[in-house]
This record gives sequence, structure tokens and C-alpha cells, in this order.
Amino acid sequence: MSSLVKKYLMALTGFVLVGFVCGHMLGNLQMFLHPDWINEYAYKLQHLPYGLLWVVRLVLLITVIVHVVVAVQLVLENRRARGGENYAAKAKLQATFASKTMRYTGLVLLAFIIFHILHFTVQSVHPEFKELHTEITGTGTLWHVYDHLKPMGHTNQHDVYAMVGIGFSPHFWYVPAFYIFSMALLCMHLTHGVASMFQSLGLRNSVWTPRLRKLALVIGWVVFLGFSSLPVAGLLQAFPHQDHIQAQYEHTFDGGAAHSDAAAHNH
Ligand code: HEM
Repeated sequence: MSSLVKKYLMALTGFVLVGFVCGHMLGNLQMFLHPDWINEYAYKLQHLPYGLLWVVRLVLLITVIVHVVVAVQLVLENRRARGGENYAAKAKLQATFASKTMRYTGLVLLAFIIFHILHFTVQSVHPEFKELHTEITGTGTLWHVYDHLKPMGHTNQHDVYAMVGIGFSPHFWYVPAFYIFSMALLCMHLTHGVASMFQSLGLRNSVWTPRLRKLALVIGWVVFLGFSSLPVAGLLQAFPHQDHIQAQYEHTFDGGAAHSDAAAHNH
């Protein structure tokens, strides 16, 4: 495979991942609304028809694998070129701090994603998260899950709102701290990644290169501030329904008797 094809592949997979990250960030920002918002949203995603959730997961997994494998190949090629006589190629490299650290920020992000999936999707970091359930109250979200569940008399759902609130609470301060650190690395990775994505697509000239670099910087910072606002709010206990999070924490993590209650809710 030629280097050009590899760079296109990096740009294409990077584009898909940036799209996912922006969508996921908007979804998560619903934590600043009523708990129904994120809880109904999670329900909707988990009950997509035709196994679409697994299709999306598979596409994302393949995208990440291609992005990482091709990145490693490009790094090795680059190293070989630098080891040889190719000084011109070396001189052309834009050696900013973000570009030099791409492989390290990428590696930490990979570790972050694995931890993150165990934390909130598999919920094996805190198995108690599985017991968090709450009534959907019908506050009128965009997702209309309540309208669909109410006639079935079944409005008790997994409480993603409390899960994220507890997961980022000061009780587990090192977890939100790791999230904020990872989001800073994500910001660096995106800032350089998005700029080089445009270069790989051939958009390189004296007018557009600086503009696109600015756009990449803006995307990186928006993603950093958007995502980091959640662990920061968790640490400061500043979510709008903090009382709900506290009640769920005491119910599930503090009280032994509470466990059987929560298990009964699941049925
Ligand atoms: C403050 C930051 C974040 C929060 C609060 C957050 C929240 C969540 C939650 C609640 C879930 C599980 C949804 C559910 O199963 O109910 C999830 C899944 C996931 N998140 Fe995040 N996320 C954050 C940052 C990120 C970032 C930066 C990435 C990628 C770079 C990411 C990638 C994923 C992936 C791949 C899944 C698994 C989706 C699935 O297969 O179900 N998340 N996130």
C-alpha cells in the first residue's frame, strides 16, 4: 500500500472518529439537563432496531483498528526514511509539539477508551452501576421514550445520569482526574490530527493551511471543554440534579439492604 493511500486512510478513519467524538460529546452534555434526557437517550441507543447498535460498534471498532495499524506503519516508514538519506523529507516535517507526540497521545487515548468502556459500558469497574435504576418521569425530552414506555407500564430504566454523576464524584476523584488528563491529550491529538487530515486530502496552500489549522485548534478546544465539563462538574458536585445523584449513591454504594431493592427494580 502506498504512503498516499495510507494517509488517505488515516484521514478517512480520523474523520469518522472526530464525527463520533463530537456526537458523543453532544449526547453527554445532556447531563446538564433533567436526568430523563440522558436516560431516555441511552435507552433509545440501546434499543435501536435491526441490531444497529452492534453495527455502529463494529464500524467504530474496525475504524479504530485501521487508524492505529496504519498509524504504526506510517511511523515505521517515517523512521526508516529518517534513518536514510532522506533529509528533504525530514525538513518538510512540521515538528510541532502536538505532531511529535501523536503516537504517545494516541496510545494513552487507546488506554483511556479501554478503561472508559469497562467503566460505563461493561460497568465492571463499579459493578454497582448495573443496579442504578430510576423512574423516567416524562419531562418531555427529544427522545419520546416515555410516551412509548408509559402504555406498557414500564418506566423504570437504567440510571445513566446517576452512573456518570457517581462515576465522576469526589469519592473516586482519581477517575475524573484521569478523564480530564485524557481529554487534554485528546485535544492535542485532534488539533494536529484534524490539520493533517486536511493536508492529506490535498488542501495545502498559503491561504487555506493557516485557516484549517485554526479550525483544527477550535475543534480540539471545543471537544476538550465540552467533555471536561463533565468530570469537572462531577468533582464539584455541580450537576443540576445533584440531590438525585447523592440519593442514588447512598442507596447503592452505602446501604447493604439497598442491593436487594435495586435488584427487584430490574425485573
Ligand atoms: C467526559 C467524557 C465522557 C463521558 C461522560 C462519556 C460517557 C459515556 C457513557 C455514559 C457511555 C455508555 C453509554 C451506555 O452504555 O449507556 C459511553 C460509552 C462510550 N464512550 Fe464515552 N464518554 C466520555 C468520553 C468519551 C471519549 C473521549 C471517547 C472516545 C475518544 C468515548 C468513547 C466511548 C465509546 C467507544 C463508548 C462505547 C459505546 C458502546 O459501544 O456502547 N467516550 N460513554
